[in-house]
Amino acid sequence: MTLSLAPAPSAGVPTRRLIIDGKSVDALSGRTFETRNPATGELLASVAEGGAADVDLAVAAARRAFEGPWSRFTPFQRQEILLKFADLVEANFEELTMTDVLDMGAPITFARARKTRALGLIRFYAGMCTTIHGETLPNSFPGEVFTYTLKEPVGVVGAITPWNAPLTSTIWKLGPVLATGCTMVLKPAEDAPLTALRLGELLLEAGLPEGVVNVVPGFGHDAGAALAAHMGVDKVAFTGSDVTGRKIIEASKGNIKRVTLELGGKSPDVIFADCDMELAVPGAGMGVFANTGQICCAGTRLLIERPIYEEFVERVSAYARSLKVGAGIDPATQIGPVVNATQLERVAGYIDVGLGEGAVATAGGKRLTEGALKHGYFIEPTVLSGVNNDMRVAQEEIFGPVAAAIPFDTLEEAAAISNATPFGLGGGVWTQNVATAHRMAKAIRSGTVWVNTYGGLDPAVPFGGYKASGYGRESGLHHVDAYLETKAVVMKLA
Ligand code: NAI
Ligand code: MG
Repeated sequence: MTLSLAPAPSAGVPTRRLIIDGKSVDALSGRTFETRNPATGELLASVAEGGAADVDLAVAAARRAFEGPWSRFTPFQRQEILLKFADLVEANFEELTMTDVLDMGAPITFARARKTRALGLIRFYAGMCTTIHGETLPNSFPGEVFTYTLKEPVGVVGAITPWNAPLTSTIWKLGPVLATGCTMVLKPAEDAPLTALRLGELLLEAGLPEGVVNVVPGFGHDAGAALAAHMGVDKVAFTGSDVTGRKIIEASKGNIKRVTLELGGKSPDVIFADCDMELAVPGAGMGVFANTGQICCAGTRLLIERPIYEEFVERVSAYARSLKVGAGIDPATQIGPVVNATQLERVAGYIDVGLGEGAVATAGGKRLTEGALKHGYFIEPTVLSGVNNDMRVAQEEIFGPVAAAIPFDTLEEAAAISNATPFGLGGGVWTQNVATAHRMAKAIRSGTVWVNTYGGLDPAVPFGGYKASGYGRESGLHHVDAYLETKAVVMKLA
């Protein structure tokens, strides 16, 4: 089976179909939707639009696979598939990267730099296959009683992903599913479904049995909502907005699904007067502007200690102006387009709101519509200065290249401002004082704090949110726990 960029015989536009039970199929409704390149508006593919009926078929296939052949795979055999899959991702990395670049606009240099992460994630979960185990437990029952626990896969997982990093976010969902022996129905984001479909093909090529991973692109309100509420789905793993996250929680109540949620944030990046500015300016700058600001843990609030406030704002603004904005396909591009017209409106709208609330744009602030950029969704990397933490631009996730600069006077005040949003995903500290670094790292209520660096993720390091940034942790030794049930066996021997 091959779905990759082969033109449909009848039309000039390639078609992509759903992957259900190991087969490439049209949606039952026959409907399709378009996915476009946000840098040019170019139509990339016509994609089968999965709906509730397709989700039903995919969940049934996932259930059959869960109870059938896949349940008899040993840890070694699951590991072998993951390692083979890693090799295939490596061999096809350039194509997968290009698919991300075209489908959602990521700068290619940035996307290529994720190779170590993409492969590292798969191989990490391959390793996890053989680490899953229960325990033997002492107990106080009378007589001779042997007690132990079994770790068993939770069952059929519904995974719903966003568009901002299709390759790595799909792999992040696949890893624990395959490591634990679960099966999956994946609903990729409607704005960038192509990479997930290609990964679905590579999994089959790696020898994964039919039905273990099914890929059903479609819209959130339709395929996504059907998957989130499906009575045959045991767990939902979701990454996306907090608004949708709340709907996922509601939808989980029918069969008391297990739910893990990664919901973004409004992360503080705290810059102390004693920081190394040579590191902090580009570090904090890329902490917010990388991937055009479309990163859940972006350090979007720059909290700057008052003595260096003016200088730092000036330097980070100059840095923002120096960034090369353009199509992702150009290796020199540092900032690509945002993903679609709605996001462009949203980001531009937030900049206007910030200016209306009294902030000043010391860099950027405008859409870019000249020359080659005129058909894409481009906006300048923007620094808003004079922001007060109560302003909407300091409280709400913008998901675009917009930094909000906020002055502070003491560590206590920086901590209070850091924590005064509903979110708690990331955070950063720039200082040369070890005590300041430790105190601030402890004070920020979030799942990750970076010190003198920002945004790096590693498969071995847990990642996730405090507060409204979500439930659960991805990566790390304990990620697989969210895909396992624990069964206690209490056995009377005499
Ligand atoms: P979204 O949360 O609507 O979409 C994420 C995924 O959820 C997509 O696959 C979508 O189809 C699906 N979905 C939407 N509604 C659903 C429903 N009712 N039931 C089940 N699945 C559903 O995010 P969207 O609209 O693409 O972006 C809006 C904002 O969300 C962004 O501006 C940003 O602030 C935030 N966001 C945060 C992300 C993160 O990584 N934490 C990723 C994407 C968006
Ligand atoms: Mg697209």
